[in-house]
Amino acid sequence: MEYTTLGDTGMEVSRICLGCMSFGSSDWRDWVLDEEESFPIIERAIDLGINFFDTANMYSEGESERVLGTALEGYDRDELVVATKVYNPVSSDPHPNETGLSRKTVDQELRNSLGRLGMETVDLYQTHRWDYGTPIEETLRALNDAVRRNDVRYIGTSSQWAHQFASALHASDRLGLERFVSMQNHYNLVYREEEREMIPLCNREGIGVIPWSPLARGYLTRPHEQFIETTRGKYMDNTRFADRIDTYRANGGDTINERVEEIATRKDATMAQISLAWLLHQDAVDAPIIGTTSVEHLEEAVAALEIDLSDSDIEYLEEPYGPVGIDGHE
Ligand SMILES: NC(=O)c1ccc[n+]([C@@H]2O[C@H](COP(=O)([O-])OP(=O)(O)OC[C@H]3O[C@@H](n4cnc5c(N)ncnc54)[C@H](OP(=O)(O)O)[C@@H]3O)[C@@H](O)[C@H]2O)c1
Repeated sequence: MEYTTLGDTGMEVSRICLGCMSFGSSDWRDWVLDEEESFPIIERAIDLGINFFDTANMYSEGESERVLGTALEGYDRDELVVATKVYNPVSSDPHPNETGLSRKTVDQELRNSLGRLGMETVDLYQTHRWDYGTPIEETLRALNDAVRRNDVRYIGTSSQWAHQFASALHASDRLGLERFVSMQNHYNLVYREEEREMIPLCNREGIGVIPWSPLARGYLTRPHEQFIETTRGKYMDNTRFADRIDTYRANGGDTINERVEEIATRKDATMAQISLAWLLHQDAVDAPIIGTTSVEHLEEAVAALEIDLSDSDIEYLEEPYGPVGIDGHE
């Protein structure tokens, strides 16, 4: 395994982060594994040297945090970096203060997350989206207090507009509060809108970039016409996510998918590995957050660290891309 520091912090994270949205309860989404089936994947990740795990209070309505916490019980907590998130409603019938980033919600949800994880401290506590209803200063003060209480080590954030993120960093500096150290954003070969504003901002500010859906929710792992035959593809096709498949396929996406397949064949690798290798070659990227329900796919992801893409491979993969609609935030 390769390790890197997360942004400008000194904390070392594996270059592959295991996303835990796929662990928890199959009642939540049909592509999610229940507890017993989740354990072998988390255990294999640790065997492979992965020390970085990402979950959220909302995944499987809290079950993802509980399953992750239980799976990690037998391991040395000091060796692991655990990240979770707050903002989205946890239950299907949320009360008003279950959602958003007010001090009340942040305090309550952090306590609930620590309880489910069975941990005293979370290494990285992330705001899942921008809260248009709470001043960023209130959220930052609540997060700063959580760090002072030692409930949280570092604070991070996720998809939003670059101008919003810039204003949050500025508010921290102005008020002498903890700064966000990481940006968890939607970034992959068929969704590169983040390269316009967000990634240059992160580079300038020393922010760690940890992309979500690095395989475009599975779209980049197989020829495009096969994607909607998968459980995840069918789920997307039948829900509000259907237009996200169109976004991936729009403006060059299908051609990129074909080029990923072509390079995979040439290099005797899988499409998932080529797509991940492209992200791992991006200077700004610390650790893609991969989602998988299979030990074999997890092993493939780790092996992608060894794939060398030439400048011309990278140019060939990138060349068909054209602007697409925003997917990940409002
Ligand atoms: N901050 C946010 O707003 C946000 C949003 C979405 C996700 N996330 C985070 O990002 C993580 C990953 O998200 P994601 O699941 O959408 O990401 P993803 O890694 O882009 O896609 C996962 C899909 O790719 C498939 N896949 C993975 N490796 C494969 C391989 N080698 N061959 C074939 N198929 C393969 C998986 O199927 P198998 O299960 O069969 O392997 C799964 O259906 C989540 O767990 C979560 O932690 C954050």
